[in-house]
Amino acid sequence: MTTAKDGISALRSLKNYLIFLKDAGYSEIPLETKWNPGSSRQRTPTQTLESSPPSSRKAMPPKTSNLTLDDVKKELGECTRCKLCEGRNTIVFGSGNPNADLVFVGEGPGADEDAQGLPFVGRAGQKLTDIIEKGMGLNRQEDTYICNIVKCRPPGNRDPEKDEIEACKPFLIKQINAIQPKVLVALGKPSASTLLGRNVAITKERGTWHEFQGIPLMLTFHPAYLLRAYTLENRQAVFSDMKQVLARLKS
Ligand code: URA
Repeated sequence: MTTAKDGISALRSLKNYLIFLKDAGYSEIPLETKWNPGSSRQRTPTQTLESSPPSSRKAMPPKTSNLTLDDVKKELGECTRCKLCEGRNTIVFGSGNPNADLVFVGEGPGADEDAQGLPFVGRAGQKLTDIIEKGMGLNRQEDTYICNIVKCRPPGNRDPEKDEIEACKPFLIKQINAIQPKVLVALGKPSASTLLGRNVAITKERGTWHEFQGIPLMLTFHPAYLLRAYTLENRQAVFSDMKQVLARLKS
């Protein structure tokens, strides 16, 4: 039986979907969908920036790396390499598909992530999930891998400090090497600056392609920034960046 709660939830989903379409530049609702109700993936209909998912992974050369993500996690162990270990509850290593073509790199765990041991599970995480699933038409768990430049929560959610980033960076690099994604996305300035090894002016440089160890790297705003500055301009900027990412994944 359909309840009033179901109806409200459906209306809320519809509202979110319309906002996403508007942000993605649609002026009308697209009629065509690639949604296949019989598919085990169960994508939501038409909630994509592009009408089809990225090209199949089969066309890509085999991924090779000496270390697996499990090896990297084992090597990290119960890390005490920097002072962030003192206040953490859990190490937030990363989550998603170890063979993903797309890797998002955030800044560091917040309180929710520290409690659950998973990246991007708080408010910013919900926004990132919406960007991936409603905006890009991908499945967060199956199509992406998400991690951070530091694996332990900086106290009071302050920015990670240089020595903390330096201590953790080898593990980020090993994670990326283990996954060997087709595209990397740096979420926000600290992530972009860490991956590029220089001070990145994210408002100027978002939307531009770079490289990290030969892997195409897109810079975009951090979802927490998007939530703080929830303007149409910023939302459109992120959608435009993600459109570029989808195009690169398909190429
Ligand atoms: N912000 C981040 O940068 N990473 C997380 O995991 C959560 C919030």
